[in-house]
Amino acid sequence: MDKQITIAVAGLGSRGNAYSYALDNLGDRVKIVACADILPDRVERYGDRYSIPQELRFSSAEEMLKTEKVADVLFVATPDRCHYRHAMAGLDLGYDILLEKPVSPVLSECFDIAKKAKETGRRVIVCHVLRYTAFYRKLKSLIDSGVIGDVVNIKADERVIYWHQAHSFVRGNWSNSKRSSPMILQKCCHDMDILHWLVGKRCVAVSSFGSLTHYKPSEAPEGATERCTESCPVYMSCPYSVENCYIAPARGGNFSWPIDVVTQVPTLDALLENLKTGPYGRCVYHCDNDVVDHQVVNLLFEGGETATFSMCAFTAGTSWGRETYVMGTKGEIIASSGKDRIEVNVFGGASDVYENVSSETDGFGHGGGDYGIVRDFIDLIEGKDVTSSYLTDIDETLESHIIALSAEESRVGGGKLVDTKEFAERNR
Ligand SMILES: NC(=O)c1ccc[n+]([C@@H]2O[C@H](COP(=O)([O-])OP(=O)(O)OC[C@H]3O[C@@H](n4cnc5c(N)ncnc54)[C@H](O)[C@@H]3O)[C@@H](O)[C@H]2O)c1
Repeated sequence: MDKQITIAVAGLGSRGNAYSYALDNLGDRVKIVACADILPDRVERYGDRYSIPQELRFSSAEEMLKTEKVADVLFVATPDRCHYRHAMAGLDLGYDILLEKPVSPVLSECFDIAKKAKETGRRVIVCHVLRYTAFYRKLKSLIDSGVIGDVVNIKADERVIYWHQAHSFVRGNWSNSKRSSPMILQKCCHDMDILHWLVGKRCVAVSSFGSLTHYKPSEAPEGATERCTESCPVYMSCPYSVENCYIAPARGGNFSWPIDVVTQVPTLDALLENLKTGPYGRCVYHCDNDVVDHQVVNLLFEGGETATFSMCAFTAGTSWGRETYVMGTKGEIIASSGKDRIEVNVFGGASDVYENVSSETDGFGHGGGDYGIVRDFIDLIEGKDVTSSYLTDIDETLESHIIALSAEESRVGGGKLVDTKEFAERNR
């Protein structure tokens, strides 16, 4: 067997665990040898699961990254505003890093990480997991095959889903941009990455509109209580009630995401206790959220290609859903991640339909992307040949962050045109 790759994981929440489950499928090629989180019960549970010795269970990423390298590679799955210091400290120790997105809500910090990666000669791969799905790889390969000629325009929709918005962007970790990131960066840097990748050119200008329209006190049903309890007059009928979002599925034995974000202990008692006092038990109309619930972005690329992107909370569904229409000089592609279907219509020619595109990677988060990125990252570290044009290394990732943060500047400025090159220079 080749040398086993050892891994240190910082941040043992939803993402840290998702990548760890994905790693389980790589067998003896990898071993998780160290872990860190500021919540002691997470460290203990995770440490026990991977038989990590006590001396390699750390009370924070800072502690783990203080003195010496304890593994071959570092996974950084801590909150958005920690990534910068954890990635910089990891690079200083000589780690190759799998880094959660967004890299940082501060663009100059993204440039700093890219610079340090170059100086230290280490790899930083950012978790733009969509590129690692069979679905988007199929779409990219169809475009690159030339079957629809040159790409002229892309129309992309991100259907967030009402309960996902409420969970993550109203009650949850990414509800307030000052604590985390603007939504166009946090949620949609994936989409900006995919658009820039599919067009294959640099985005030169953006304009954007969007706002928070619904999840605020003025929109609350009459008499809605500040915490979501049975005393609220709309408790049973509100689509956002904790009964509908968390308790009913848990009673049916479902403790998967997003319920496992509310409690990592899969019991009804633990869930109810968290809902009684924690952030996920708040009324969605009475939180401290400030991120948008809908946003549109217009993008202009360097060859004159255009794209329109729309992100909206007010959509229904149970799983991830992105719709992408690619229009080329010789045909069009209609790609629905929700339906797992890609249709190619050549003008005056044949139509092809690809169904169940993601089937080979079913069972992993983000349509297989969580597994795909971990697999490619480990392949890369083992020195295997990984198609470099598919890799989201830190330099490639700067583009998605420049586009997203330029779009946020435009939105905040009432939709003004932002020149992405000028924006990047100003924020370097
Ligand atoms: N790639 C994707 O598609 C994707 C999807 C969702 C979230 N994310 C990103 O992943 C990151 C983690 O998100 P999550 O959903 O796992 O959040 P989470 O809150 O479930 O997990 C974060 C963990 O980091 C821990 N933590 C906080 N400060 C720490 C420190 N100083 N040292 C060590 N641990 C610390 C927290 O206690 C928590 O357990 C965020 O940046 C988020 O934006 C990426």
